[in-house]
Amino acid sequence: MVRIVETSVRDGHQSLFATRMTTQEVVELCKIYDAAGYSAIEVWGGATFDSCMRFLNEDPWDRLRQVRSVCKNTKLQMLFRGQNILGYRHYSDDVVDMFCKKSIENGIDIIRVFDALNDIRNLRQAVESTKKYGGECQIALSYTTSPVHTIEYYVDLAKEVESLGADSLCIKDMAGVLLPEDARKLITALKKEIKIPLELHSHCTAGVCEMTYRAAIEAGIDIVDTSLSPLSNGTAQPSTQALCVALKGTQYDPKIDLDVLHKAEPIATRIVDKYVKNGLLNPKSFEINPNILTYQVPGGMLSNMIKQLSDQGAMDKYEEVLKEIPKVRKDLGYPPLVTPMSQMVGTQSVLNILSGERYKMCAKEIKDYLHGRYGKAPAQIDEAIKKKIIGDDEVITCRPADLLEPEFEKLKEQYKDIARSDEDVLSLALFEQVASEFLKKKYGTAECDEFEMYI
Ligand code: CO
Repeated sequence: MVRIVETSVRDGHQSLFATRMTTQEVVELCKIYDAAGYSAIEVWGGATFDSCMRFLNEDPWDRLRQVRSVCKNTKLQMLFRGQNILGYRHYSDDVVDMFCKKSIENGIDIIRVFDALNDIRNLRQAVESTKKYGGECQIALSYTTSPVHTIEYYVDLAKEVESLGADSLCIKDMAGVLLPEDARKLITALKKEIKIPLELHSHCTAGVCEMTYRAAIEAGIDIVDTSLSPLSNGTAQPSTQALCVALKGTQYDPKIDLDVLHKAEPIATRIVDKYVKNGLLNPKSFEINPNILTYQVPGGMLSNMIKQLSDQGAMDKYEEVLKEIPKVRKDLGYPPLVTPMSQMVGTQSVLNILSGERYKMCAKEIKDYLHGRYGKAPAQIDEAIKKKIIGDDEVITCRPADLLEPEFEKLKEQYKDIARSDEDVLSLALFEQVASEFLKKKYGTAECDEFEMYI
């Protein structure tokens, strides 16, 4: 039997319409999902948290508590970017610890932790804290293809993950580039070497995902991530119902109650219709795009890049920039293209082409990366390029967070005028500006805007 993690209320709307589902919509669906027999429901992550405050004027902690109150039988899962938590910089260990504690206290059961570089040192604190507070910890390895990302590379990492004390392991194919036969080989090799449950997370963007899932299931995968139709396919996960029907009566039958899911379908349809109508959901998101297999670029990264180019009036350079991406990736030691590396590699590729000279200009984040501040690159970084960007600067080789002093108490003091709970302090620590505007509104301490009358 293969088990299923439902992703519609996290990755589903994040991939299809910029994470704009409201708490009310999320709760409406989760109330039904609770009786379906899922292994877990994924409900929280970086974009969900940010978007709650930034666009919806809602408290992400409150969403979690509400979902918890209607899900008495099913585990709730969140996505966590290792030492970055849900943000974009490295946080000190005590902030990571507090975030795990509060997430679990407010209703999370499983924390899925990943690091963009698969640097295990960046996962250690999150694993330790999750376990300390009684949570289940899953480590996700970012999947990508390159000369160094071989089956042996993933098997070696998986063994480390297991010895670190993770409860399960996920292969996170954020760009949807894992092909069926590669999945079969990878999952077969992993199942031979590790004992903890194995999960696969992929996207339909390239149009191969269902075939990949099928191959992974035959190779013995324990759990796959799917999304309730019509919040599925395209840039999101495959359809939960379709997979259940396809596997019904086989030894892999996920035993999900489809009658229960039928009750959720009209709600999901209403939600999709609403976002198509208000323009946030471009029906193009449901189209498949096999071209991403050529450049291995995740959908979100592509849309960012197109925006950067069109802002500069340089859309004619699109093809050139696309070809530059694999070169930049190679120069930087083949980082997987997942947040924040995807944005960094994308921006650098744009700069290399538009400035007319490679690495003439660089974002601060690329310099930090070359200084070792994100962790260890998967492969050797090009020495000449490193020298051009950071000269003979010292490069750190320790775990980046080892250089950070505890900061939670400092943050608490810094935000004492706005924050009324440790949860508020964490929201502010992760998304300072967005959270402070949100909390001022929430607690009614916002200055009154002057209304200009027409006379
Ligand atoms: Co995803």
